[in-house]
Amino acid sequence: MNNPSSPSPDGAMGKAAAARGLWSSRLAFILAATGSAVGLGNIWKFPYITGENGGGAFVLVYLLCIAAVGLPIMMAEVLIGRRGGLSPVNSMRAITRHEGLKPAWSWVAAIGVLAGFLILSFYSVIGGWAISYVGTAATGQLAGQSAESIGAIFSGLLGDPVKLLMWHTLFMALVMIVVARGVRSGLERAVSILMPALFVLLLIVVGYAMTTGHFGEAASFLFQPDFSKLTTSGVLVALGHAFFTLSLGMGIMMAYGSYLPKNISIAKTSVAVSLMDTVVALLAGLAIFPIVFANGLEPGAGPGLIFQTLPLAFGQMPMGSLFGTLFFVLLIFAAWTSGISLLEPLVEWLEEQKGMNRTLSTLGAGIACWLLGIASILSLNLWSDVAPLGMFAMFEGKTIFDLLDFLTANILLPLGGLLVAVFVGWFLSRPSLEEELSMSPAVFTAWYRVLRYFTPIAVAIVFIYNLV
Ligand code: PHE
Repeated sequence: MNNPSSPSPDGAMGKAAAARGLWSSRLAFILAATGSAVGLGNIWKFPYITGENGGGAFVLVYLLCIAAVGLPIMMAEVLIGRRGGLSPVNSMRAITRHEGLKPAWSWVAAIGVLAGFLILSFYSVIGGWAISYVGTAATGQLAGQSAESIGAIFSGLLGDPVKLLMWHTLFMALVMIVVARGVRSGLERAVSILMPALFVLLLIVVGYAMTTGHFGEAASFLFQPDFSKLTTSGVLVALGHAFFTLSLGMGIMMAYGSYLPKNISIAKTSVAVSLMDTVVALLAGLAIFPIVFANGLEPGAGPGLIFQTLPLAFGQMPMGSLFGTLFFVLLIFAAWTSGISLLEPLVEWLEEQKGMNRTLSTLGAGIACWLLGIASILSLNLWSDVAPLGMFAMFEGKTIFDLLDFLTANILLPLGGLLVAVFVGWFLSRPSLEEELSMSPAVFTAWYRVLRYFTPIAVAIVFIYNLV
């Protein structure tokens, strides 16, 4: 539990943290951080980008990015949060003041606030797809359908802006209700029940996928690297997704870390969160690709992949309508806990910086995000030919939806993460880091080297390569 007299860089920072209350246990932090990390990124995005980027080699690069870039940065973010004990922007500020650094560093957290806002606008639209599929599954519409008619259900949904708007509005409202009431009360309990349940359902679908006779094919697609299929833009996507799926580069882990009691190991908890996140993504892959191959579907089908494969599986397995309904309900919960963590930094910032109360800042931020989401909705149908930055080669043919996804996951999050790595690796004093992490000298040195050299250089190279 909280130990208010624990060593803290300065009294004010320690007291502020204590006043905000801390997680009730290490497990609670792990659950909340996992709730943020595990979301649509694992179940919706990971399989479809893996399909688009040719499988095994991409997965390998992705796993490397998680271990060698994501994990060290997650530790750095949690560390900043716990040391500062405040919201991301103000934690950064408190630390710069304490260490005699330029206050401009707090802009790093500001990039994160912006990224969260942009991500949530389209994340909510996808969350809306999941809500819509609960109804589809519950009313038995998936039972015994062919791949074509399941595909038609999906394109019917995308072609209907009014329906999309309705579900997007509902998802956004769900997120806003929790954020307005303060994140902590319900979150811990919700996550501790829903995450294990999602895990079990995913295992059931993997079990079904094993009976399709194409499990081996799927496993070799996922785990046998064929480097001829790997492109440089694939590497950028893998790197960006490592940030996206671990909720890095936008201050979430700083915000949650600020509630972490001092006596808990940052390294162990970060490893636990990253592992769970990775396992869920791989399970999703093992659930989806056997169905893709068994039904002659296209692995590179894009964002609709899980909405065309999973319904097919549920339509064919015994008690499929029940399992299908449950699965999409849990997917909504996974998206919901992530959505909450996407809105939280902006709301905290409005409260602290603009002196607005919680309800008002949630309303302001949520409605603005909802409005931007409408542009993503329209880009799926009426505006599907509109490519706002299409004149730049990098953004050629990208609709508003694609553009927001690309800008956030592949540019803003890695940039935020890069700056965090440089800040912690090069500007914070080594003794403060050693004190905060309190791990064995050998492990500390390994982490410190990776964060100082490998992480920034790797991110920078991938960036520059993709710009030119
Ligand atoms: N990690 C979440 C997911 O995988 C998305 C997310 C990104 C949440 C960034 C918070 C911050 O779905």
